[in-house]
Amino acid sequence: MSGAAYRVSAAAGRARGRDEGPVQETGEVMGSRRVGPYTLLDVVAPHVAVRVLPGQFVSVAVDGPETLLRRPFSVSGISGAPAGGGIEIVFETLGPGTVWLAGRDRHDAVDVVGPLGRPFTAPPEPAPCLLVGGGYGAAPLVLLGRTLRERGLRVDFLLGAATQSRLLGVMDAKRIAGTTTVTTEDGSAGRAGIVTDAMEDVLDANGSGAVYACGPMPMLAAVSEVAAGRGVPVQVAVEESMACGVGVCWSCVVPYRRDDGVANVRACLDGPVLDGARVDWPTLRTWWAGGAQSPELTP
Ligand SMILES: Cc1cc2nc3c(=O)[nH]c(=O)nc-3n(C[C@H](O)[C@H](O)[C@H](O)COP(=O)(O)OP(=O)(O)OC[C@H]3O[C@@H](n4cnc5c(N)ncnc54)[C@H](O)[C@@H]3O)c2cc1C
Ligand code: FES
Repeated sequence: MSGAAYRVSAAAGRARGRDEGPVQETGEVMGSRRVGPYTLLDVVAPHVAVRVLPGQFVSVAVDGPETLLRRPFSVSGISGAPAGGGIEIVFETLGPGTVWLAGRDRHDAVDVVGPLGRPFTAPPEPAPCLLVGGGYGAAPLVLLGRTLRERGLRVDFLLGAATQSRLLGVMDAKRIAGTTTVTTEDGSAGRAGIVTDAMEDVLDANGSGAVYACGPMPMLAAVSEVAAGRGVPVQVAVEESMACGVGVCWSCVVPYRRDDGVANVRACLDGPVLDGARVDWPTLRTWWAGGAQSPELTP
């Protein structure tokens, strides 16, 4: 999808257009703190920070055994106000890469490549925007929400997680949004259920004319289907597993309906933000049922 005409700036007042395209930069950790089960890392990387747009990601070199590949993370915020200079990432500790990253201290060096991928784009027509996040998928939506608000658009949040402790970004959302609706699968906070149980009500209540979503792929499928079923434009930031992160290896493909048929697009290059109404979710579901994230990963 082409978004150049509707790009949204991550920081009002900063010059844009001169500083596009990814760079490799040795960043310096300025802070690390726990946010529930997640770690928020604030990294000074001014050349990346000045370029990043909501929905883009960075690829971080990690150390340790079995960590040859960089790890991708959404940029959740720009720090070092008012001039910027830092990027924030929020991540769950899952394996060796994120364990290593969670162990970084203030002033440690972190090698970052970014910003990568295509960002979210503003709605074609000014409209209230519904931002739907699942777990740490809320990370890029906070930056997006701030940006859409700067553009004068109404923003509403719908955030879901399995349980209260796994919700991310609720306080930020409340500062930014007209309304913030929370769902948890175990009912420990907000409405019991999953985000799509509440989505129709939230769309109706706010007259939402655009949906933006990030979270687990099955959630993105369901959110896209609800939005598309109502004719509401929907952009999803997919977090498909990535090896190279720069378009070379084709490990991250997503089946996508183009005007001339379905093609595999690379989430790292053509995404991570894709038109949710064009992602071929039925085919993706067959891949998931087969235990593969993409045909290329099938042994
Ligand atoms: C564009 C993009 C943005 C991302 N943004 C974030 C973010 O903001 N915060 C965050 O916590 N994570 C994010 N992820 C996922 C993150 O990259 C992985 O969790 C991380 O690479 C795991 O590395 P590891 O070495 O700790 O674990 P690994 O040993 O590589 O994996 C450990 C476990 O995590 C699973 N895993 C690995 N990659 C993914 C993935 N992409 N999605 C779901 N499960 C995965 C593996 O299947 C395995 O079960 C993002 C991924 C992509 C592609
Ligand atoms: S991760 Fe290599 S092509 Fe996308």
